[in-house]
Amino acid sequence: MQYPEYRPRRLRLSPTIRAMVRESALATTDLIYPLFVKPGEGLRDEVSSMPGQYQISLDMLPAEIDELRKLGVGAVILFGLPAHKDAVGSEGYDEHGIVQEAIRAIKKHDPEFYVITDVCLCEYTDHGHCGVLDENSYVLNDVTLELLAQEAVSHAAAGADMVAPSDMMDGRVAAIRSALDREGYVNVPIMAYSAKFCSGWYGPFREAADSAPAFGDRSQYQMDPANGDEALRETELDIEESADIVMVKPALAFMDVVWRVKETFGMPTCVYNVSGEYAMVKAAAEKGWIDEKRIVLETLTGFVRAGADMIITYHAKDAARWMREDAHAGVVGYQK
Ligand code: PBG
Ligand code: ZN
Repeated sequence: MQYPEYRPRRLRLSPTIRAMVRESALATTDLIYPLFVKPGEGLRDEVSSMPGQYQISLDMLPAEIDELRKLGVGAVILFGLPAHKDAVGSEGYDEHGIVQEAIRAIKKHDPEFYVITDVCLCEYTDHGHCGVLDENSYVLNDVTLELLAQEAVSHAAAGADMVAPSDMMDGRVAAIRSALDREGYVNVPIMAYSAKFCSGWYGPFREAADSAPAFGDRSQYQMDPANGDEALRETELDIEESADIVMVKPALAFMDVVWRVKETFGMPTCVYNVSGEYAMVKAAAEKGWIDEKRIVLETLTGFVRAGADMIITYHAKDAARWMREDAHAGVVGYQK
């Protein structure tokens, strides 16, 4: 295959042929939308560092779910802002905690809508770390496992379809699996935040979820962004502990990790397009410096090309709307 006999441009001549040879396609069914729920009534408070994203009260959930359904987005991942925080994150595993009640509210409104829950303690602890601390402020691993398992079970009991531990404690997938199975939730899958890096890209999320650590950072439990081999070891551990889906997070600076994880394990792989990645696009778009639609669809398609089967993204609604618009207008965009 050589020029001048072979000319790659031949297969780029028209939208039809370009669509025919297109390798990766984004679908609205790949998208998972993050939702932040909090106590109160009639609340829909915009997160200042994430324009277009809101902390909402439970009474606002039905409208939210209806909107997502209409757009063809069938799954959410829930994050909770509790009424009270304490040293051990009690509301995280309280039967009537904010996330547990949110699950019930969604399931009451639309039983088939797929509800995933983030399982971690940082939103519920007064110190903002992802686990319980000892007297030297070290995050205790094994004590935390017990609480995470309780949290996961309480989510399943409230009707969650899937749980997603994001804490990065060692052994949490096994601890959660055995607790779920013991309580009879054998069909609730675990989506493990397997390769979760200690990242500056989570900044806006910590405002959205009010979960910034009160001191220090998460570098004693989240991974060093410099480490790709370690990401594979972490992912392998989660698979051995029976994770059903593995995740890489953040997305943009870790596309090589997505690729390696998918190539190495062939597992259902999720990528988390995190808050800072969203904020960056929104800021540039607001300034008129970029074409938001084009950049978002190109980026999400890039995640699929890199090996992601599903994407958690704050762009989910916009992306779904844009894909629909294009389909109706007969535009051959990123979809097949
Ligand atoms: C909780 C959690 C975080 C995110 C998802 N789950 C924050 C963190 O680990 O500090 C980040 C999501 C985002 O930035 O969009 N452990
Ligand atoms: Zn956490």
